Amino acid sequence: MYDSLNGKIALVTGGTKGIGRSIADKLSANGVTVVITARSKSEDDYNNYHFIAADLTRADSAGRIAKEVLEKYGKIDIVVNNAGANLSPGGGFNTLEDEDWFKDWELNFMSVVRMNKALLPAMLEQKEGIIINISTGAAKQPIWEMTMSYSSAKAALNAYSKALANEVGSKGIRVNTVSPGVVRTPLMNDFIENIAQQSGTTFEESFQSIVDKVGVPIGRMAEPEEIANMVAFLASSEGQYITGANISVDGGASPTV
Ligand SMILES: NC(=O)c1ccc[n+]([C@@H]2O[C@H](COP(=O)([O-])OP(=O)(O)OC[C@H]3O[C@@H](n4cnc5c(N)ncnc54)[C@H](OP(=O)(O)O)[C@@H]3O)[C@@H](O)[C@H]2O)c1
Repeated sequence: MYDSLNGKIALVTGGTKGIGRSIADKLSANGVTVVITARSKSEDDYNNYHFIAADLTRADSAGRIAKEVLEKYGKIDIVVNNAGANLSPGGGFNTLEDEDWFKDWELNFMSVVRMNKALLPAMLEQKEGIIINISTGAAKQPIWEMTMSYSSAKAALNAYSKALANEVGSKGIRVNTVSPGVVRTPLMNDFIENIAQQSGTTFEESFQSIVDKVGVPIGRMAEPEEIANMVAFLASSEGQYITGANISVDGGASPTV
C-alpha cells in the first residue's frame, strides 16, 4: 500500500481490460478515485469506476474527457495513458499503406499527446501531477513482420515523454514511460490467435514462438498486475525522484542495458 496515493484522482485510458484494468484496480486499492475510459464499458466493472466512453483516435475525445474529469473532481493528480494496440497488419514494410501508419500513430502516439495537452494546464496550475505513458519493449525491439508501424509510434512516444519530462520537471510534474514486454491480456490473446491462424500452428505453439522470438529470460508472459505494480510505485511518493525514465517491465526481454 502507498499511503501517499490515498485521495488522489486518476485517469486511466483503456481501463476496462488488460493492463489498464489492473492499473485502475491497483490505484483504487490504494485509495485513488479512478476514472476509466474505453470505447465500450466493461460488463464486469465491480468497482463501478467513473466510466467515460471515448474513441481516442478521434481528435475531440481528449478535450471532452478532460472537461468531464475536471468539472466533476476539480483536479487531476495522475494520468495513465494506457490505451493502445498494435494495429499493424503485419507482413512488413511493403504491405503498409499510409492509412496503416496513421492508424497506429493516431492511437499509440497522438491520443497521448492530445490527452496530456488537455490535462497538463490543470496540473501546471496545481504545481503537481504525474503522467505515466504505457509504451512497449517493441519500441526498442521492433519485429518487422508484425509491429513496424506500432513500434515506430511507441518509439516516438518514448522520445516525446522524455522531452515533456524535461520541460515540466521543475514545475512539479513527473512524466515517465513504462514498457511492458509480453503480457497476458485480451490484446495479446488476439495477437497470438492471429499468428496461430496465419502460420497454421496452435495457440500454445504461437505463444511459445513469441516468447522465444522476443527472448524472455524469466520464460513466461507477465500478468497485467505486474505492470500495474510499477505504475502504482511511480505514481506514489516512493517514486518522487523518478522522471524522464522509460522503465522496462519485461522479464528481462530487453537485450541491452
Ligand atoms: N499486452 C501486451 O503484451 C503489451 C505489451 C507491451 C505493451 N502493451 C501496451 O499496453 C497497453 C494496454 O495493452 P493491453 O494488452 O492491456 O490491451 P487490451 O487488453 O486490448 O486493452 C486495451 C484497452 O484500451 C481500450 N482501447 C483500445 N482501442 C481504443 C481506442 N481506439 N479508443 C479508446 N480506447 C481504446 C480498450 O477498450 P475498447 O476496446 O472498449 O476501446 C481496452 O480498455 C497498450 O498501450 C499496449 O500497446 C501491451
